[in-house]
Amino acid sequence: MPMRANYIWMNGKIIPWDEAKVHVFTHALHYGSSVFEGIRAYETADGPAIFRGREHFERLLFSCKIARIPSPLTVDEWMQVAIDVVKANQLRSAYIRPLVFRGYETLGVDGRKCPVDAILASVPWGRYLGNEAIENGVDVQVSTWRRMASNMLSPMAKIGGQYVSSQNIAMEAHDNGFTEGIAIDINGYVSEGSGENIFIIHKGVIYTPPLASSILGGITRDSAIKIALDLGYEVKEMAMTRDMLYLADEIFFTGTAAEITPVRSVDRLPVGDGKRGPVTKAVQDVFFGIVEDNAPDKWGWLTPIQL
Ligand SMILES: Cc1ncc(COP(=O)(O)O)c(C=O)c1O
Repeated sequence: MPMRANYIWMNGKIIPWDEAKVHVFTHALHYGSSVFEGIRAYETADGPAIFRGREHFERLLFSCKIARIPSPLTVDEWMQVAIDVVKANQLRSAYIRPLVFRGYETLGVDGRKCPVDAILASVPWGRYLGNEAIENGVDVQVSTWRRMASNMLSPMAKIGGQYVSSQNIAMEAHDNGFTEGIAIDINGYVSEGSGENIFIIHKGVIYTPPLASSILGGITRDSAIKIALDLGYEVKEMAMTRDMLYLADEIFFTGTAAEITPVRSVDRLPVGDGKRGPVTKAVQDVFFGIVEDNAPDKWGWLTPIQL
């Protein structure tokens, strides 16, 4: 079944899903000249609630700036559109996808003569790596693909064309029987998964690669850091070599799609004893407590929607 919903916002209007169309000469289709976000609305006792929506739209505007594709809306306006589209579709939980892209005019590589088009979709969506994965973890490989260097592309932005890098990492991992691949950056240090940031726990200390290791500054990454510090763990943003992956007591991924998912093996070597570890579980418990189990939203991460 293709992903879909009843309504979608496109260029200023909420319209029926099937009417949201573009011409095949759309610039973004040819050259990846688009920017996007992936946001969740969780089902809570008080209805759907958008998780850290403002931060996602701030990052969308940042990606727009880097890609030189002006955003048609401000952060506040994007938030309102997201709320309106979840409401229009009457979704109790949702994946929200805004996309701003260069439209149809010419095929010159510099697309700035093309109009800017934008959509925001909300669709029903379950867990990306599966429910089982949240408890038992996933098996991953170190990718043969390097993460893109920051003097070549913009790892800190979510620009459509850059996701060829993520596709290479994910397709290779899947073909090799792994759930995900971890890319090494151009300097030889651990970077991130195709759509997740990575955390490594060693002797009770939590390590995660810094922004300079060609990572996207994940919003779930930031949430995990805040939770871990609040729980009293030491968190170090530090460039890490590949062997840290093999020496780790625990590893977990963070991402809007993956949420907080343990990694149980890397390159067929078990991480720790091959089971979810106590630090991962402690961070997960706080995270899922807030987004799923009505624990106090102490950081103000949720924006409730009245359906
Ligand atoms: C390459 C990449 N890294 C990391 C992440 C995780 O970021 P976030 O937690 O903001 O979803 C994503 C997903 O957006 C991603 O595409």
